[in-house]
Amino acid sequence: MLLRRKTFVLFALGIVLLLHVCFADGITRKSFPDGFVFGTASSAYQYEGAVKEDGRGAATWDKFAHSFGKVIDFSNADVAVDQYHFYEDDIKLMKDMGMDAYRFSISWPRIFPNGSGQINQAGVDHYNALINSLLAHGIEPYVTLYHWDLPQALQDKYNGWLDPQIINDFATYAETCFKNFGDRVKNWMTFNEPHTLTVQGYDVGLQAPGRCSILLRLFCWAGNSATEPYIVGHNVLLAHAIAFDIYKTKYKATQNGRVGISFDVIWYVPGTNKTEDIEATQRAQDFQLGWFLDPVMFGDYPSSMRTRVGDRLPRFSKLQTDLVKGSVDFVGINHYTTWYAWHNSTSIIGVLLNDSVADSGSITLPWKNGKAIGDRAHSIWLYIVPTGFRSLLNYVKNKYGNPLVIITESGMDDANSPLISLKNALKDEKRIKYYNDYLTNLLAAIKEDGCNVKGYFAWSLLDNWEWAAGYSSRFGLYFVDYNDKLKRYAKNSAVWFKNFLTAS
Ligand SMILES: *[C@@H]1O[C@H](CO)[C@@H](O)[C@H](O)[C@H]1NC(C)=O
Ligand SMILES: *[C@@H]1O[C@H](CO)[C@@H](O)[C@H](O)[C@H]1NC(C)=O
Ligand SMILES: *[C@@H]1O[C@H](CO)[C@@H](O)[C@H](O)[C@H]1NC(C)=O
Ligand SMILES: *[C@@H]1O[C@H](CO)[C@@H](O)[C@H](O)[C@H]1NC(C)=O
Repeated sequence: MLLRRKTFVLFALGIVLLLHVCFADGITRKSFPDGFVFGTASSAYQYEGAVKEDGRGAATWDKFAHSFGKVIDFSNADVAVDQYHFYEDDIKLMKDMGMDAYRFSISWPRIFPNGSGQINQAGVDHYNALINSLLAHGIEPYVTLYHWDLPQALQDKYNGWLDPQIINDFATYAETCFKNFGDRVKNWMTFNEPHTLTVQGYDVGLQAPGRCSILLRLFCWAGNSATEPYIVGHNVLLAHAIAFDIYKTKYKATQNGRVGISFDVIWYVPGTNKTEDIEATQRAQDFQLGWFLDPVMFGDYPSSMRTRVGDRLPRFSKLQTDLVKGSVDFVGINHYTTWYAWHNSTSIIGVLLNDSVADSGSITLPWKNGKAIGDRAHSIWLYIVPTGFRSLLNYVKNKYGNPLVIITESGMDDANSPLISLKNALKDEKRIKYYNDYLTNLLAAIKEDGCNVKGYFAWSLLDNWEWAAGYSSRFGLYFVDYNDKLKRYAKNSAVWFKNFLTAS
Protein backbone atom coordinates (compact mmCIF):
# COMPACT_ATOMS: atom_id res chain seq x y z
CA MET A 1 0.00 0.00 0.00
CA LEU A 2 2.68 2.36 1.11
CA LEU A 3 4.81 1.39 -1.84
CA ARG A 4 1.97 1.97 -4.26
CA ARG A 5 1.22 5.31 -2.83
CA LYS A 6 4.88 6.25 -3.19
CA THR A 7 4.82 5.10 -6.80
CA PHE A 8 1.76 7.21 -7.44
CA VAL A 9 3.35 10.26 -5.85
CA LEU A 10 6.45 9.76 -7.99
CA PHE A 11 4.27 9.37 -11.06
CA ALA A 12 2.37 12.55 -10.27
CA LEU A 13 5.60 14.38 -9.64
CA GLY A 14 6.86 13.15 -12.99
CA ILE A 15 3.84 14.63 -14.73
CA VAL A 16 4.28 17.94 -12.96
CA LEU A 17 7.95 18.01 -13.91
CA LEU A 18 7.10 17.16 -17.49
CA LEU A 19 4.53 19.95 -17.66
CA HIS A 20 7.08 22.27 -16.12
CA VAL A 21 9.66 21.39 -18.76
CA CYS A 22 7.14 21.86 -21.58
CA PHE A 23 6.16 25.23 -20.18
CA ALA A 24 9.80 26.21 -19.78
CA ASP A 25 10.57 25.38 -23.38
CA GLY A 26 7.72 27.58 -24.53
CA ILE A 27 8.66 30.90 -22.98
CA THR A 28 8.71 33.95 -25.23
CA ARG A 29 8.63 37.67 -24.54
CA LYS A 30 4.83 37.35 -24.50
CA SER A 31 5.18 35.37 -21.26
CA PHE A 32 6.62 38.52 -19.62
CA PRO A 33 4.53 41.45 -18.36
CA ASP A 34 3.75 44.27 -20.82
CA GLY A 35 6.49 46.88 -20.94
CA PHE A 36 9.22 44.48 -19.83
CA VAL A 37 12.43 45.62 -21.57
CA PHE A 38 14.84 43.30 -23.39
CA GLY A 39 18.22 44.54 -24.50
CA THR A 40 21.90 43.75 -24.90
CA ALA A 41 24.72 45.29 -22.90
CA SER A 42 28.25 46.52 -23.64
CA SER A 43 30.87 48.92 -22.35
CA ALA A 44 32.96 51.60 -24.05
CA TYR A 45 36.34 50.13 -23.24
CA GLN A 46 35.46 46.61 -24.32
CA TYR A 47 33.81 47.71 -27.57
CA GLU A 48 34.92 51.06 -28.93
CA GLY A 49 38.59 50.85 -29.81
CA ALA A 50 39.71 54.11 -31.49
CA VAL A 51 41.59 54.97 -28.30
CA LYS A 52 43.61 57.74 -29.90
CA GLU A 53 40.90 59.21 -32.10
CA ASP A 54 39.00 62.48 -31.93
CA GLY A 55 40.87 63.83 -28.94
CA ARG A 56 40.19 61.00 -26.46
CA GLY A 57 42.51 61.15 -23.45
CA ALA A 58 44.29 58.11 -22.03
CA ALA A 59 42.47 55.78 -19.62
CA THR A 60 44.01 53.84 -16.72
CA TRP A 61 43.07 50.68 -18.60
CA ASP A 62 45.21 51.73 -21.61
CA LYS A 63 48.26 51.74 -19.38
CA PHE A 64 47.25 48.55 -17.56
CA ALA A 65 46.50 46.60 -20.75
CA HIS A 66 49.83 47.62 -22.21
CA SER A 67 51.73 46.47 -19.09
CA PHE A 68 53.41 43.11 -19.55
CA GLY A 69 51.59 40.14 -18.03
CA LYS A 70 48.33 41.85 -17.11
CA VAL A 71 46.21 40.47 -19.96
CA ILE A 72 46.20 36.72 -20.46
CA ASP A 73 46.56 36.72 -24.27
CA PHE A 74 48.84 39.79 -24.38
CA SER A 75 46.17 41.72 -26.28
CA ASN A 76 44.95 45.26 -25.64
CA ALA A 77 41.78 47.19 -26.42
CA ASP A 78 43.24 49.74 -28.83
CA VAL A 79 40.90 48.38 -31.51
CA ALA A 80 38.56 46.15 -29.42
CA VAL A 81 35.60 45.40 -31.74
CA ASP A 82 35.75 48.90 -33.22
CA GLN A 83 32.20 49.88 -32.39
CA TYR A 84 33.38 53.49 -32.50
CA HIS A 85 33.20 53.11 -36.29
CA PHE A 86 30.75 50.22 -36.70
CA TYR A 87 27.96 51.39 -34.42
CA GLU A 88 25.43 51.87 -37.23
CA ASP A 89 25.89 48.25 -38.33
CA ASP A 90 25.66 47.00 -34.75
CA ILE A 91 22.43 48.89 -34.15
CA LYS A 92 20.95 47.11 -37.18
CA LEU A 93 21.85 43.78 -35.55
CA MET A 94 19.98 44.78 -32.38
CA LYS A 95 17.03 45.94 -34.43
CA ASP A 96 16.98 42.70 -36.40
CA MET A 97 16.82 40.63 -33.19
CA GLY A 98 13.88 42.68 -31.96
CA MET A 99 15.71 44.19 -28.97
CA ASP A 100 14.07 47.15 -27.22
CA ALA A 101 17.15 48.71 -25.65
CA TYR A 102 20.93 48.96 -25.68
CA ARG A 103 23.09 49.43 -22.60
CA PHE A 104 26.43 51.07 -23.39
CA SER A 105 28.83 53.26 -21.44
CA ILE A 106 30.26 56.68 -22.11
CA SER A 107 34.03 56.94 -21.98
CA TRP A 108 34.93 59.67 -19.47
CA PRO A 109 38.28 60.42 -21.23
CA ARG A 110 36.41 61.05 -24.50
CA ILE A 111 34.34 63.78 -22.83
CA PHE A 112 37.14 65.13 -20.58
CA PRO A 113 40.53 64.00 -21.96
CA ASN A 114 42.18 65.30 -18.79
CA GLY A 115 39.44 64.06 -16.48
CA SER A 116 38.30 67.61 -15.75
CA GLY A 117 38.62 71.04 -17.31
CA GLN A 118 38.16 71.35 -21.06
CA ILE A 119 35.30 69.43 -22.72
CA ASN A 120 36.20 67.55 -25.91
CA GLN A 121 33.39 68.39 -28.33
CA ALA A 122 34.32 65.53 -30.70
CA GLY A 123 33.58 63.08 -27.87
CA VAL A 124 30.20 64.69 -27.21
CA ASP A 125 29.46 64.57 -30.95
CA HIS A 126 30.21 60.84 -31.08
CA TYR A 127 27.74 59.95 -28.35
CA ASN A 128 25.13 62.28 -29.84
CA ALA A 129 25.45 60.38 -33.11
CA LEU A 130 25.24 56.99 -31.35
CA ILE A 131 22.19 58.00 -29.29
CA ASN A 132 20.42 59.52 -32.29
CA SER A 133 21.03 56.43 -34.38
CA LEU A 134 19.68 54.16 -31.62
CA LEU A 135 16.52 56.27 -31.30
CA ALA A 136 16.08 56.40 -35.06
CA HIS A 137 15.96 52.59 -34.99
CA GLY A 138 13.56 52.50 -32.05
CA ILE A 139 16.21 51.28 -29.57
CA GLU A 140 16.13 52.89 -26.12
CA PRO A 141 19.57 53.96 -24.80
CA TYR A 142 20.53 52.81 -21.26
CA VAL A 143 23.72 54.66 -20.41
CA THR A 144 26.41 53.79 -17.87
CA LEU A 145 28.55 56.76 -16.86
CA TYR A 146 31.46 54.82 -15.41
CA HIS A 147 32.42 51.40 -16.71
CA TRP A 148 36.02 51.43 -15.40
CA ASP A 149 37.86 53.59 -17.97
CA LEU A 150 39.13 56.30 -15.62
CA PRO A 151 41.03 59.19 -17.23
CA GLN A 152 44.72 58.46 -16.62
CA ALA A 153 45.20 62.17 -15.89
CA LEU A 154 43.21 61.80 -12.65
CA GLN A 155 45.21 58.74 -11.62
CA ASP A 156 48.39 60.76 -12.16
CA LYS A 157 47.05 63.91 -10.49
CA TYR A 158 45.72 62.47 -7.21
CA ASN A 159 45.59 58.66 -7.38
CA GLY A 160 42.08 58.47 -8.83
CA TRP A 161 39.48 56.80 -6.65
CA LEU A 162 41.72 56.87 -3.58
CA ASP A 163 41.28 60.64 -3.25
CA PRO A 164 37.98 62.34 -2.39
CA GLN A 165 38.77 65.03 -4.98
CA ILE A 166 37.46 62.58 -7.52
CA ILE A 167 33.92 62.97 -6.20
CA ASN A 168 33.61 66.49 -7.60
CA ASP A 169 35.30 65.61 -10.87
CA PHE A 170 32.91 62.71 -11.34
CA ALA A 171 29.95 64.94 -10.46
CA THR A 172 31.02 67.46 -13.11
CA TYR A 173 31.42 64.71 -15.70
CA ALA A 174 28.04 63.19 -14.80
CA GLU A 175 26.29 66.56 -15.01
CA THR A 176 27.94 67.24 -18.38
CA CYS A 177 26.37 64.00 -19.63
CA PHE A 178 22.92 64.83 -18.18
CA LYS A 179 23.12 68.28 -19.78
CA ASN A 180 24.25 67.10 -23.22
CA PHE A 181 22.37 63.79 -23.60
CA GLY A 182 19.54 63.83 -21.04
CA ASP A 183 17.00 65.26 -23.47
CA ARG A 184 17.14 61.82 -25.16
CA VAL A 185 18.63 59.44 -22.55
CA LYS A 186 16.07 58.51 -19.87
CA ASN A 187 17.88 55.64 -18.14
CA TRP A 188 21.22 56.22 -16.43
CA MET A 189 23.51 54.00 -14.41
CA THR A 190 26.18 55.92 -12.52
CA PHE A 191 28.55 52.98 -11.98
CA ASN A 192 29.05 49.52 -13.33
CA GLU A 193 29.97 47.01 -10.61
CA PRO A 194 31.50 49.16 -7.86
CA HIS A 195 32.39 45.94 -5.99
CA THR A 196 34.40 44.59 -8.93
CA LEU A 197 36.26 47.81 -9.59
CA THR A 198 37.08 48.08 -5.88
CA VAL A 199 38.18 44.49 -5.27
CA GLN A 200 39.80 43.75 -8.63
CA GLY A 201 41.54 47.13 -8.80
CA TYR A 202 42.65 47.64 -5.17
CA ASP A 203 42.42 44.31 -3.30
CA VAL A 204 43.58 41.54 -5.63
CA GLY A 205 45.13 43.85 -8.25
CA LEU A 206 43.94 41.97 -11.33
CA GLN A 207 42.38 45.04 -12.96
CA ALA A 208 43.43 48.68 -13.42
CA PRO A 209 45.05 50.38 -11.63
CA GLY A 210 46.38 47.04 -10.33
CA ARG A 211 47.06 47.89 -6.69
CA CYS A 212 47.24 45.29 -3.89
CA SER A 213 49.30 43.96 -0.98
CA ILE A 214 48.06 40.35 -0.81
CA LEU A 215 50.40 37.35 -1.02
CA LEU A 216 53.33 39.31 0.36
CA ARG A 217 53.10 41.87 -2.49
CA LEU A 218 54.14 39.31 -5.04
CA PHE A 219 51.95 40.77 -7.79
CA CYS A 220 51.58 44.48 -7.14
CA TRP A 221 54.09 47.32 -6.89
CA ALA A 222 51.94 49.31 -4.52
CA GLY A 223 48.72 49.22 -2.59
CA ASN A 224 47.16 48.12 0.70
CA SER A 225 44.48 45.46 0.33
CA ALA A 226 43.37 45.93 3.95
CA THR A 227 42.51 49.61 3.61
CA GLU A 228 42.31 50.86 0.02
CA PRO A 229 39.26 48.85 -1.12
CA TYR A 230 37.19 50.47 1.63
CA ILE A 231 38.40 53.97 0.80
CA VAL A 232 37.71 53.48 -2.90
CA GLY A 233 34.28 51.95 -2.23
CA HIS A 234 33.41 54.93 -0.03
CA ASN A 235 34.43 57.50 -2.66
CA VAL A 236 32.50 55.61 -5.34
CA LEU A 237 29.35 55.59 -3.18
CA LEU A 238 29.64 59.34 -2.52
CA ALA A 239 30.28 60.09 -6.20
CA HIS A 240 27.24 58.01 -7.13
CA ALA A 241 25.05 59.75 -4.55
CA ILE A 242 26.07 63.25 -5.63
CA ALA A 243 25.41 62.44 -9.29
CA PHE A 244 21.99 61.07 -8.30
CA ASP A 245 21.27 64.23 -6.32
CA ILE A 246 22.31 66.53 -9.19
CA TYR A 247 19.97 64.67 -11.53
CA LYS A 248 17.11 64.73 -9.04
CA THR A 249 17.35 68.41 -8.18
CA LYS A 250 18.33 69.90 -11.55
CA TYR A 251 17.30 67.59 -14.40
CA LYS A 252 14.60 65.12 -13.40
CA ALA A 253 11.71 67.59 -13.58
CA THR A 254 12.43 68.52 -17.18
CA GLN A 255 14.07 65.34 -18.48
CA ASN A 256 11.84 62.78 -16.73
CA GLY A 257 14.49 60.08 -16.56
CA ARG A 258 15.75 57.79 -13.84
CA VAL A 259 19.12 57.03 -12.30
CA GLY A 260 20.34 53.68 -11.00
CA ILE A 261 23.59 51.80 -10.43
CA SER A 262 24.61 48.28 -11.52
CA PHE A 263 25.94 45.75 -9.01
CA ASP A 264 27.77 42.49 -9.69
CA VAL A 265 26.08 39.77 -7.67
CA ILE A 266 27.11 36.13 -7.38
CA TRP A 267 24.44 34.21 -5.49
CA TYR A 268 25.96 32.33 -2.52
CA VAL A 269 24.52 29.14 -1.03
CA PRO A 270 25.83 27.58 2.20
CA GLY A 271 28.29 24.72 1.63
CA THR A 272 26.67 22.84 4.54
CA ASN A 273 23.72 23.44 6.84
CA LYS A 274 25.95 24.18 9.81
CA THR A 275 25.00 27.45 11.45
CA GLU A 276 28.52 28.83 11.01
CA ASP A 277 28.37 28.21 7.25
CA ILE A 278 24.93 29.75 6.93
CA GLU A 279 26.19 32.83 8.77
CA ALA A 280 29.33 32.93 6.61
CA THR A 281 27.13 32.83 3.50
CA GLN A 282 25.31 35.94 4.68
CA ARG A 283 28.63 37.63 5.42
CA ALA A 284 29.92 36.81 1.93
CA GLN A 285 26.81 38.52 0.51
CA ASP A 286 27.27 41.47 2.92
CA PHE A 287 30.83 41.97 1.65
CA GLN A 288 29.62 41.85 -1.98
CA LEU A 289 26.16 43.33 -2.57
CA GLY A 290 25.60 44.67 0.97
CA TRP A 291 28.80 46.74 0.87
CA PHE A 292 27.16 48.99 -1.73
CA LEU A 293 23.42 48.39 -1.63
CA ASP A 294 23.03 48.64 2.18
CA PRO A 295 24.32 52.24 2.22
CA VAL A 296 22.06 53.12 -0.71
CA MET A 297 18.99 51.55 0.90
CA PHE A 298 19.64 51.93 4.64
CA GLY A 299 22.29 54.67 4.89
CA ASP A 300 25.18 52.58 6.26
CA TYR A 301 27.38 49.54 5.65
CA PRO A 302 26.19 46.10 6.87
CA SER A 303 26.81 45.54 10.59
CA SER A 304 29.00 42.51 9.80
CA MET A 305 31.34 44.86 7.90
CA ARG A 306 31.36 47.43 10.70
CA THR A 307 32.23 44.71 13.23
CA ARG A 308 34.88 42.92 11.21
CA VAL A 309 36.58 45.81 9.38
CA GLY A 310 36.50 48.22 12.33
CA ASP A 311 38.35 51.51 11.92
CA ARG A 312 39.47 50.66 8.39
CA LEU A 313 35.87 51.09 7.20
CA PRO A 314 35.14 54.80 6.59
CA ARG A 315 32.15 56.43 8.29
CA PHE A 316 29.41 58.46 6.66
CA SER A 317 28.78 61.88 8.18
CA LYS A 318 25.13 62.77 8.84
CA LEU A 319 25.10 64.83 5.66
CA GLN A 320 26.59 61.97 3.62
CA THR A 321 24.13 59.45 5.03
CA ASP A 322 21.24 61.68 3.94
CA LEU A 323 22.77 61.94 0.48
CA VAL A 324 23.52 58.24 0.00
CA LYS A 325 20.34 56.80 1.51
CA GLY A 326 17.64 56.43 -1.12
CA SER A 327 19.95 57.41 -3.99
CA VAL A 328 18.45 55.14 -6.66
CA ASP A 329 15.41 55.04 -8.91
CA PHE A 330 16.26 51.44 -9.78
CA VAL A 331 18.72 48.74 -8.76
CA GLY A 332 20.75 47.27 -11.61
CA ILE A 333 21.92 43.70 -11.14
CA ASN A 334 24.59 41.95 -13.17
CA HIS A 335 24.14 38.25 -12.52
CA TYR A 336 25.99 35.30 -14.01
CA THR A 337 26.61 32.56 -11.48
CA THR A 338 26.15 30.89 -8.06
CA TRP A 339 28.86 29.69 -5.65
CA TYR A 340 29.06 27.89 -2.32
CA ALA A 341 30.17 29.65 0.86
CA TRP A 342 31.70 28.33 4.09
CA HIS A 343 32.96 29.77 7.31
CA ASN A 344 36.74 30.24 7.27
CA SER A 345 38.18 27.77 9.73
CA THR A 346 41.86 28.62 9.39
CA SER A 347 43.82 31.77 10.11
CA ILE A 348 46.18 31.36 7.18
CA ILE A 349 43.88 33.37 4.93
CA GLY A 350 44.11 36.34 7.27
CA VAL A 351 47.91 36.39 7.20
CA LEU A 352 48.45 35.75 3.48
CA LEU A 353 45.70 38.00 2.26
CA ASN A 354 44.86 40.54 4.98
CA ASP A 355 42.23 41.98 2.70
CA SER A 356 38.47 42.35 2.29
CA VAL A 357 38.12 38.63 1.49
CA ALA A 358 39.83 37.70 4.76
CA ASP A 359 37.73 40.31 6.58
CA SER A 360 34.55 38.57 5.42
CA GLY A 361 35.67 35.40 7.24
CA SER A 362 34.12 33.31 4.53
CA ILE A 363 35.50 31.13 1.80
CA THR A 364 33.57 30.99 -1.46
CA LEU A 365 34.07 28.45 -4.24
CA PRO A 366 32.07 27.13 -7.22
CA TRP A 367 32.62 23.50 -6.25
CA LYS A 368 32.34 21.16 -3.26
CA ASN A 369 33.97 17.76 -2.65
CA GLY A 370 35.45 17.98 -6.13
CA LYS A 371 32.05 18.44 -7.74
CA ALA A 372 31.13 21.66 -9.58
CA ILE A 373 27.95 23.52 -8.59
CA GLY A 374 26.81 23.53 -12.23
CA ASP A 375 27.92 23.20 -15.81
CA ARG A 376 30.95 25.42 -16.45
CA ALA A 377 31.06 28.12 -19.13
CA HIS A 378 34.55 29.13 -20.32
CA SER A 379 35.53 31.53 -17.52
CA ILE A 380 36.84 29.72 -14.46
CA TRP A 381 34.37 31.62 -12.26
CA LEU A 382 31.27 31.09 -14.40
CA TYR A 383 29.16 28.04 -13.54
CA ILE A 384 25.60 27.78 -14.80
CA VAL A 385 23.02 27.61 -11.98
CA PRO A 386 19.67 28.95 -13.21
CA THR A 387 17.79 28.46 -9.91
CA GLY A 388 20.35 30.64 -8.12
CA PHE A 389 19.05 33.58 -10.17
CA ARG A 390 15.54 33.15 -8.75
CA SER A 391 16.89 32.82 -5.20
CA LEU A 392 18.94 36.01 -5.60
CA LEU A 393 15.93 37.97 -6.84
CA ASN A 394 13.90 36.81 -3.85
CA TYR A 395 16.75 37.81 -1.53
CA VAL A 396 16.78 41.34 -2.99
CA LYS A 397 13.00 41.53 -2.74
CA ASN A 398 12.89 40.42 0.89
CA LYS A 399 15.93 42.24 2.22
CA TYR A 400 15.52 45.56 0.43
CA GLY A 401 11.75 46.02 0.25
CA ASN A 402 11.14 44.83 -3.30
CA PRO A 403 12.87 47.69 -5.15
CA LEU A 404 12.56 48.20 -8.90
CA VAL A 405 15.23 45.93 -10.38
CA ILE A 406 16.70 45.80 -13.89
CA ILE A 407 18.99 42.93 -14.83
CA THR A 408 21.70 44.99 -16.51
CA GLU A 409 23.92 42.00 -17.44
CA SER A 410 23.55 38.23 -17.70
CA GLY A 411 25.22 35.73 -19.98
CA MET A 412 27.94 33.13 -20.50
CA ASP A 413 31.15 32.75 -22.47
CA ASP A 414 32.79 30.20 -24.74
CA ALA A 415 36.52 29.87 -25.30
CA ASN A 416 38.09 31.69 -28.22
CA SER A 417 39.42 28.56 -29.81
CA PRO A 418 41.78 28.94 -32.80
CA LEU A 419 40.99 25.39 -33.91
CA ILE A 420 37.23 25.62 -34.25
CA SER A 421 35.68 26.45 -37.64
CA LEU A 422 33.48 29.51 -38.00
CA LYS A 423 30.52 27.23 -38.74
CA ASN A 424 30.97 25.34 -35.47
CA ALA A 425 31.68 28.47 -33.45
CA LEU A 426 28.18 29.69 -34.31
CA LYS A 427 26.57 26.57 -32.81
CA ASP A 428 26.25 27.81 -29.23
CA GLU A 429 23.52 25.52 -27.89
CA LYS A 430 24.87 25.93 -24.35
CA ARG A 431 24.22 29.68 -24.52
CA ILE A 432 20.68 29.08 -25.76
CA LYS A 433 20.06 26.79 -22.80
CA TYR A 434 21.60 29.38 -20.46
CA TYR A 435 19.23 32.11 -21.64
CA ASN A 436 16.22 29.83 -21.73
CA ASP A 437 16.83 28.57 -18.19
CA TYR A 438 17.81 31.91 -16.64
CA LEU A 439 14.82 33.63 -18.25
CA THR A 440 12.53 30.83 -17.05
CA ASN A 441 13.71 31.43 -13.48
CA LEU A 442 13.38 35.19 -13.92
CA LEU A 443 9.81 34.73 -15.11
CA ALA A 444 8.99 32.57 -12.08
CA ALA A 445 10.53 35.20 -9.78
CA ILE A 446 8.29 37.85 -11.34
CA LYS A 447 5.05 35.91 -11.74
CA GLU A 448 5.12 33.47 -8.82
CA ASP A 449 7.24 35.35 -6.27
CA GLY A 450 6.23 38.93 -7.07
CA CYS A 451 9.76 40.26 -7.66
CA ASN A 452 9.70 43.75 -9.16
CA VAL A 453 11.99 43.18 -12.17
CA LYS A 454 11.37 45.26 -15.29
CA GLY A 455 14.19 44.55 -17.71
CA TYR A 456 16.83 42.06 -18.83
CA PHE A 457 20.04 42.87 -20.73
CA ALA A 458 22.05 40.03 -22.23
CA TRP A 459 25.81 40.32 -21.92
CA SER A 460 26.67 40.71 -24.65
CA LEU A 461 25.64 41.81 -28.14
CA LEU A 462 29.06 40.88 -29.57
CA ASP A 463 32.13 38.94 -28.56
CA ASN A 464 34.42 41.63 -27.17
CA TRP A 465 37.57 42.46 -25.22
CA GLU A 466 37.08 40.88 -21.81
CA TRP A 467 39.51 42.90 -19.60
CA ALA A 468 42.29 40.68 -18.16
CA ALA A 469 40.95 37.79 -20.24
CA GLY A 470 41.53 39.80 -23.43
CA TYR A 471 40.00 38.17 -26.49
CA SER A 472 40.21 34.67 -24.95
CA SER A 473 36.56 34.67 -23.87
CA ARG A 474 33.54 35.05 -26.15
CA PHE A 475 30.32 36.32 -24.52
CA GLY A 476 28.52 37.48 -27.68
CA LEU A 477 25.22 36.61 -29.27
CA TYR A 478 27.18 37.62 -32.37
CA PHE A 479 30.54 36.09 -33.21
CA VAL A 480 33.32 38.53 -34.10
CA ASP A 481 35.96 37.27 -36.50
CA TYR A 482 39.21 38.69 -35.15
CA ASN A 483 41.08 37.34 -38.18
CA ASP A 484 38.85 38.91 -40.79
CA LYS A 485 38.14 42.61 -40.32
CA LEU A 486 36.06 42.09 -37.19
CA LYS A 487 33.11 40.82 -39.22
CA ARG A 488 30.03 39.96 -37.14
CA TYR A 489 28.12 36.67 -37.55
CA ALA A 490 24.88 35.64 -35.80
CA LYS A 491 25.40 32.69 -33.46
CA ASN A 492 22.47 30.33 -33.02
CA SER A 493 21.69 32.16 -29.77
CA ALA A 494 21.07 35.38 -31.72
CA VAL A 495 18.57 33.49 -33.85
CA TRP A 496 17.04 32.01 -30.68
CA PHE A 497 16.69 35.50 -29.19
CA LYS A 498 15.08 36.77 -32.37
CA ASN A 499 12.51 33.96 -32.23
CA PHE A 500 11.99 34.57 -28.51
CA LEU A 501 11.42 38.30 -29.04
CA THR A 502 9.35 38.21 -32.20
CA ALA A 503 7.15 35.14 -31.48
CA SER A 504 3.48 35.92 -31.86
C1 LIG B 1 45.19 68.42 -20.98
O1 LIG B 1 46.35 68.73 -20.22
C2 LIG B 1 47.49 68.97 -21.01
C3 LIG B 1 48.69 69.11 -20.09
O2 LIG B 1 48.39 69.94 -19.01
C4 LIG B 1 47.25 70.20 -21.88
O3 LIG B 1 48.35 70.43 -22.70
C5 LIG B 1 46.01 69.94 -22.74
O4 LIG B 1 45.69 71.11 -23.47
C6 LIG B 1 44.82 69.55 -21.91
N1 LIG B 1 43.75 69.14 -22.78
C7 LIG B 1 42.48 69.50 -22.60
C8 LIG B 1 41.49 69.03 -23.59
O5 LIG B 1 42.14 70.17 -21.64
C1 LIG C 1 20.20 22.06 3.91
O1 LIG C 1 18.85 21.88 4.28
C2 LIG C 1 17.94 22.07 3.21
C3 LIG C 1 16.53 22.02 3.76
O2 LIG C 1 16.36 20.92 4.61
C4 LIG C 1 18.22 21.03 2.13
O3 LIG C 1 17.35 21.21 1.04
C5 LIG C 1 19.65 21.19 1.65
O4 LIG C 1 19.96 20.18 0.71
C6 LIG C 1 20.63 21.12 2.80
N1 LIG C 1 21.93 21.49 2.31
C7 LIG C 1 23.01 20.76 2.54
C8 LIG C 1 24.27 21.28 1.95
O5 LIG C 1 23.02 19.75 3.19
C1 LIG D 1 39.42 32.43 10.37
O1 LIG D 1 38.96 31.66 11.44
C2 LIG D 1 39.90 31.48 12.47
C3 LIG D 1 39.33 30.51 13.47
O2 LIG D 1 38.00 30.83 13.75
C4 LIG D 1 40.23 32.85 13.10
O3 LIG D 1 41.23 32.70 14.10
C5 LIG D 1 40.78 33.75 12.01
O4 LIG D 1 41.00 35.04 12.50
C6 LIG D 1 39.81 33.81 10.86
N1 LIG D 1 40.42 34.54 9.79
C7 LIG D 1 39.77 35.49 9.17
C8 LIG D 1 40.53 36.12 8.09
O5 LIG D 1 38.64 35.84 9.44
C1 LIG E 1 46.69 44.03 7.93
O1 LIG E 1 46.84 45.33 7.39
C2 LIG E 1 46.56 46.37 8.31
C3 LIG E 1 46.55 47.70 7.55
O2 LIG E 1 47.74 47.87 6.83
C4 LIG E 1 47.59 46.31 9.42
O3 LIG E 1 47.32 47.32 10.37
C5 LIG E 1 47.54 44.95 10.07
O4 LIG E 1 48.59 44.83 11.03
C6 LIG E 1 47.69 43.82 9.06
N1 LIG E 1 47.45 42.53 9.68
C7 LIG E 1 48.24 41.46 9.47
C8 LIG E 1 47.84 40.19 10.14
O5 LIG E 1 49.23 41.51 8.77
